[in-house]
Amino acid sequence: MEPEKLRSASWFGRKDKDGFIYRAWMKNQGAPPDMFDGRPVIGICNTWSELTPCNGHFRELAEAVKKGVLEAGGFPVEFPVMSLGETLIKPTAMLYRNLVSMDVEESIRANPVDGVVLLCGCDKTTPSLVMGACSVDIPTLVISGGPMLKGHWKGRDIGTSDIWRFDAAHKLGQITTEEFMESEACMARTQGHCAVMGTASTMAVMVEALGLSLPNNASIPAADARRKVFSQLSGRRIVDMVKENLTMSKILTRKAFENAIMVNAAMGGSTNFVIHLLAIAGRIGVDLNIEDFDKYSQGIPLLANIQPSGENYMEDLYYSGGLPAVIKEMKAIIHNDAITVNGKMMGDNCATAEVYDRNIISTMQEPFKPESGILVVKGNLAPDGAVMKPSAATPALLKHSGKAVVFENIEDYHARIDDPALDIDATSIMVLKNVGPKGYPGMAEVGNMTLPKKLLEQGVTDMVRISDGRMSGTGFGTTVLHVSPEAAVGGPLALVKNGDIISLDAHNRTLQLEVSEEELAVRKAAWKQTETMQTRGYVHLYQTHVQQAHLGADMDFLKGGSGNKVSRDSH
Ligand code: FES
Repeated sequence: MEPEKLRSASWFGRKDKDGFIYRAWMKNQGAPPDMFDGRPVIGICNTWSELTPCNGHFRELAEAVKKGVLEAGGFPVEFPVMSLGETLIKPTAMLYRNLVSMDVEESIRANPVDGVVLLCGCDKTTPSLVMGACSVDIPTLVISGGPMLKGHWKGRDIGTSDIWRFDAAHKLGQITTEEFMESEACMARTQGHCAVMGTASTMAVMVEALGLSLPNNASIPAADARRKVFSQLSGRRIVDMVKENLTMSKILTRKAFENAIMVNAAMGGSTNFVIHLLAIAGRIGVDLNIEDFDKYSQGIPLLANIQPSGENYMEDLYYSGGLPAVIKEMKAIIHNDAITVNGKMMGDNCATAEVYDRNIISTMQEPFKPESGILVVKGNLAPDGAVMKPSAATPALLKHSGKAVVFENIEDYHARIDDPALDIDATSIMVLKNVGPKGYPGMAEVGNMTLPKKLLEQGVTDMVRISDGRMSGTGFGTTVLHVSPEAAVGGPLALVKNGDIISLDAHNRTLQLEVSEEELAVRKAAWKQTETMQTRGYVHLYQTHVQQAHLGADMDFLKGGSGNKVSRDSH
């Protein structure tokens, strides 16, 4: 691209009063005159925050990116956006994903940047930044912060998925409170995001499989010096992407999305992948629907032996060959000709990858589990679909009928789950309502409800659980999630009563509430919305406009993009 055609030229290329203002205030930060000579201006969109511990090392990464940009002849400019830390934000970080995407979109469009590097890490920081950038569609490259090194406690490796196990063991008195708290410091012991194939790693895999990052983005540990090298090389590359005008829409084709779904299946990625990829597709204008996740997951086994579907950690994946080695195993089925940010095809990027440990990365012929990916069930309980993760479920429960034990909302669940009088046994189906996009609001990660203490004491380890909420990517169990439409808008989930029989047949993709249509019509006529709709602020905007889970829970007015043109062009 010619320098005078760069977006930044309409700011820094001017010789008038406005150009004076644009340049002069940048010079107060020490920018030399040649930074304004028509070179590509690269925005570095940083989600660093001490309230987002997984992204706490991003200032260092940004400095590495800047080095690379300068080496390649660009002008790096770092800017902050709202950061979403999964562990601290209440009621749930997902409530703010769409808000951050608006921050990112408007920050990119409003400023003199020709290309953008997105620094993403903790779960929602990736989809929110990618969604916002898609709606502008300039050359964009993603760098993930990298996973933590695995934890060690009492002679064994531990990671985020152990929280659920430790919680159950603590409840049963198998470990003391002191031991429970001691394990905290042993688990999150380095910088980086969750070390298992949780949602953050799923998102890092997703951007690499989509072609939005350089190869090996997904697994280089945050604490490994090669993460900085990777960032520096990414800084160099984005400058060339601007010169080539390699925009997001040229990379994010339908093939790229299909690749991402297939790779997610092979990696045993999080169910949150569904909701975020749907939202990203909506922004870039690719026609993707919830059935596609089931369709392109079919026949793809689990190739990566990483928790929670497997046994190991993301750093093990890196030492064993990284994501390129996994994708190479899939070369017969993926779209090898999908273009990626380095200008090469996906197949070329992975051609020289090697597998160093078959205990971590398997072949397609001898996988760790035969069934993986996302499974979509439908029926009168979920007319628009619900999702499951078979690799994290108990095979015997994938076909199951049982009596519903209903919790009207999360407070009801907490109040009654450990009540000794609760009428529940191992064959029951736990139903949690009003934790969907509008109802919670923000669609909380509470779908893998902890089992009642009295059943844990009996040795029960899994039950069918159904909700309109999400599940942490580090969670596991036979959970039916994202039931759409949700209870808070009067979806059939709202009509379930204690004792109703529910039939799940994941093999045939059905989820049925065994109640007559007549009875359901009577219940629907009597249904009243129980969850509060907010009347002011962002939450009001969100509840008014958020779409249902099967559409990606993006806001209706954010679908698509507005391009990179500013609406008015004078100071
Ligand atoms: Fe940030 Fe798990 S809490 S990635």
